[in-house]
Amino acid sequence: MNDFIANLPKAELHVHLEGTLEPELSFELAKKHGIELEYATVEDLLRAYDFHDLPSFLRIYYKAMSVLLDEDDFFQLTWQYLSKAAQQRVLYAEMFFDPQAHTSRGVAFETVIRGIRRAQERASLELGIDTQLILCFLRDLSAQSAMATLEESIPFKHWIVGVGLDSDEKGNPPVKFSEVFRKARQYGYRLTMHCDVNQENTLAHIHQCLHTIGVDRIDHGVNSLEDPALCATIAERGLGLTICPVSNRFVVQNLTAAEIRRMLSLGMRATVNSDDPAYFRAYVNENLQALHDEGGLTRDEIVQLVSNAFTVAWLDETRRASYVQRLQTYVDRNRAA
Ligand code: ADE
Ligand code: ZN
Repeated sequence: MNDFIANLPKAELHVHLEGTLEPELSFELAKKHGIELEYATVEDLLRAYDFHDLPSFLRIYYKAMSVLLDEDDFFQLTWQYLSKAAQQRVLYAEMFFDPQAHTSRGVAFETVIRGIRRAQERASLELGIDTQLILCFLRDLSAQSAMATLEESIPFKHWIVGVGLDSDEKGNPPVKFSEVFRKARQYGYRLTMHCDVNQENTLAHIHQCLHTIGVDRIDHGVNSLEDPALCATIAERGLGLTICPVSNRFVVQNLTAAEIRRMLSLGMRATVNSDDPAYFRAYVNENLQALHDEGGLTRDEIVQLVSNAFTVAWLDETRRASYVQRLQTYVDRNRAA
């Protein structure tokens, strides 16, 4: 199974680029900019990664971004993630970025996106991995700040496929951003939102995503299983759910393998992703492997999860068909073998 998962052609739909900042790169960039980090070594830094819920993770995640300052830093960040993803046989990735976490520190939107874009273009040519970008608004900032960020993105609209909503969900429901997402839709962006696991009012938040915002996808959304009507709507609309098992284990102490299996049995398009792999110490292969080793998911279930990701990806139908074909060929060849 290890080799089968490692070589399986995959898509990743839920990865925060800032969550791919590995400790080694943090130290390298800190040195470049003459910034003193709080930790002396990579090991010390890793020891500080003791998150137990979303806010305790987010504190460390935002603090670490202080080393991302110029265009080349964003290039390096993205290039290192894409190199790793390509090694893990990710053929296609949709990646989140958090512009407000940088513009609030005085780093220009343009600096961030140009660095990321340069790595995307190079990775497509040299690594054969294709990618698209999703701009995430920080939900613990104001709707006004999100709207200003949406407007700032418009000169770069051709580089962005959609918008999402992340950061601390407590007290920050989807409807806080109704107007921002309505406008984003008008601009032609696809829409997704985080409904993190076990958040206060999670069922109301998922309901708002489906019935007020009209999202194209939900990030996490595991708690939808508690309400048959939500499950039915998600299944009927064929909406993707981007689940991040190892991230869930960090923030809610549960890999949610049973929940993922149940979603598959209900015809919900669950997918498996890494979220913040440098922090949770697991890229997409390790997430799939954990579901098999610890959650008991079968080879067919793993293939279904990967197939779902290609099905719900924001791709044109020709590219989608070619990825699905590559997956099918791999599965057939391994079945024959
Ligand atoms: N930002 C980065 N990772 C996140 C997550 N899992 N939930 C909310 N915001 C995030
Ligand atoms: Zn996330």
